[in-house]
Amino acid sequence: MRLGVCYYPEHWPQSMWEDDARRMKTLGIEQVRIGEFAWSRIEPAPGEYDWAWLDQAIDVLGNAGLKVVMCTPTATPPKWLIDRHPDILPVGANGRPRAFGSRRHYDFSSPSYFEASRTICTAVAERYGKHPAVAFWQTDNEYGCHNTVVSYSPAALARFREWLKARYQTIDALNRAWGTVFWSMEYRSFDEIDAPVETVTEAHPSHRLDYRRFASDEVARYNRMQVEIIRARSPGRPVAHNFMQLFNEFDHYKVAADLDVATWDSYPLGALDQQWFAPDLKAKWLRMGHPDFASFNHDVYRGMSKLPFWVMEQQPGPVNWADWNPAPLPGMVRLWSWEAFAHGAGCVSYFRWRQAPFAQEQMHAGLNTPDNRFDIGAHEAARVAQEIRAVAAANADADAAVRTKVALVYDYEAKWLFEIHPQGADFHYPRFAFEYYSALRALGFDVDVIPANAPLDGYALIVVPPLPVVPDDFAARVEASGAHVVFGPRSGSKTRDLRIPAQLPPGPLAALLPMRVWRVESLRPNVTETVRVDAQTEGRGRHWRDLIEVGEDPSLEVSARFADGHPAYVRRGSAHYFASVFDERLTEQLFARIAAEAGLTPRVLGDSVRVSRRGALTYMFNYGERAHGIDGVDAADFVIGTREIEPQGVAAYRTR
Ligand code: GAL
Repeated sequence: MRLGVCYYPEHWPQSMWEDDARRMKTLGIEQVRIGEFAWSRIEPAPGEYDWAWLDQAIDVLGNAGLKVVMCTPTATPPKWLIDRHPDILPVGANGRPRAFGSRRHYDFSSPSYFEASRTICTAVAERYGKHPAVAFWQTDNEYGCHNTVVSYSPAALARFREWLKARYQTIDALNRAWGTVFWSMEYRSFDEIDAPVETVTEAHPSHRLDYRRFASDEVARYNRMQVEIIRARSPGRPVAHNFMQLFNEFDHYKVAADLDVATWDSYPLGALDQQWFAPDLKAKWLRMGHPDFASFNHDVYRGMSKLPFWVMEQQPGPVNWADWNPAPLPGMVRLWSWEAFAHGAGCVSYFRWRQAPFAQEQMHAGLNTPDNRFDIGAHEAARVAQEIRAVAAANADADAAVRTKVALVYDYEAKWLFEIHPQGADFHYPRFAFEYYSALRALGFDVDVIPANAPLDGYALIVVPPLPVVPDDFAARVEASGAHVVFGPRSGSKTRDLRIPAQLPPGPLAALLPMRVWRVESLRPNVTETVRVDAQTEGRGRHWRDLIEVGEDPSLEVSARFADGHPAYVRRGSAHYFASVFDERLTEQLFARIAAEAGLTPRVLGDSVRVSRRGALTYMFNYGERAHGIDGVDAADFVIGTREIEPQGVAAYRTR
């Protein structure tokens, strides 16, 4: 467990660097991330490198005993490069290139950019790959940020056609798979196929889905190029990328497969403001963030990281990019930091060292104010650093792995597919996945977030938010695992080519749940349907209804019905299917029952207290406004805090 910080020496006079490094050390910071936006200073003109300043910056940090996280600077191609190769700019759906003047203005498919990236990455990796202070690498910065995965450039189209050829082999196979006979859309060759934009009405959904898959693969290809360059020149140093869970226009599992470490950038208040949360929740958690939001991300990236995941950027104070940018309550920076460690993080790195008084992010807080005094976040980071030492001293296994019995399946293609073919305007996959996750957390469970093709052995409960395309072997793997499995609505509702399965949904899940979804309907946001489980348990179905025919098989039970008699929840043995998106309370109640059947012990926590376990330690976090008392633990067992957790407080205790 270590602390880090994101630092931009190129933004400050050299006369400040030594003092910066010294003050970082006094806070207990060990890792310093640099360089991800510094291309114009590394290579001010084509082929003219200026290493002197960066050599100096790395030496200053290294001499102070800090380790450097070196980045490739490819998120910000400089002006001279764009002027030389305007085809680097990504092209929007309107056919116009996006302009120079901010960042991420590049097209993953541009051959010129691929080459230019290869050259700059090679130069940086050769120069610093074996530098004793350089301990870690980051490729680029936040792939997908500012909606930059999909481009409609000529280069992207050319590569898309190649991608289609590789996937379908013949144009007839593509025509059959997509069903292009509909509206006379048949193609005679791959070269006739355009990008699915600017059509008169909705473009063909299978075409769109393949374009999204293609664009995602382009990100993985581009990242792999950088990783290979770094690995060859910097042996023994882990290579990472800093993901953002919300930028899920590419498959993070595929990119992470090429990395040693998956890291992510945690901005709980910005995310709350920008995401789907209802206005009352945005007000309630204004200065704390939603209690499950950072956790969800920790679990997403823990699962795909070979070494312990990192938080590469941690919000230290107000950000600048949401519609409203409140300040975290005192205590929250510490709470967020410990929450990351409790979920298995190896490092929490604050963004950024000092607030910049110029340019786009001048309103974004840092650990230091622009006049170079420690802000609240810095004092909290210093406290975390001290506590890390205390926890490590008290526990040999403080860095142990997180072990869970509960898994949640998260799927990137599901998000793209439901966006392309929503059928109900608010069928929002990340939100529904998050709500299932949140219900599990409110019951006190630690959760692994896994892809649909992950091994399932060892889990007692597997929760599957709406998963339209189910892998062929999924049912068999679930059965072999012996776990209870809960599927959300629309699971098994499409084939890989985005068609309705021959025997209707749930497609390949019929092996587990012999039933037929013969009709579906979507519901407006202000319409809900009563769901009756038993005399005591009732809730609401929202957004969607699968109308289910249960057929003859007596082992398929109807466990809840809608008011009009249609099944709302069916099960067969340990396989459960929800025909609607149930309200949060009902979801939690049903998960609690199913978990108990699966041999787990839910611990109902309410909405403001959360628990996580790592090694022999149990961590508790209080997001709420009132102190929370923990029962049944001796005072002597606490390594952080006490039995009474103050608002925005943290406690960690040894379990016996
Ligand atoms: C991140 C990005 C950083 C910085 C930060 C501000 O998304 O990686 O470079 O812009 O947001 O909160």
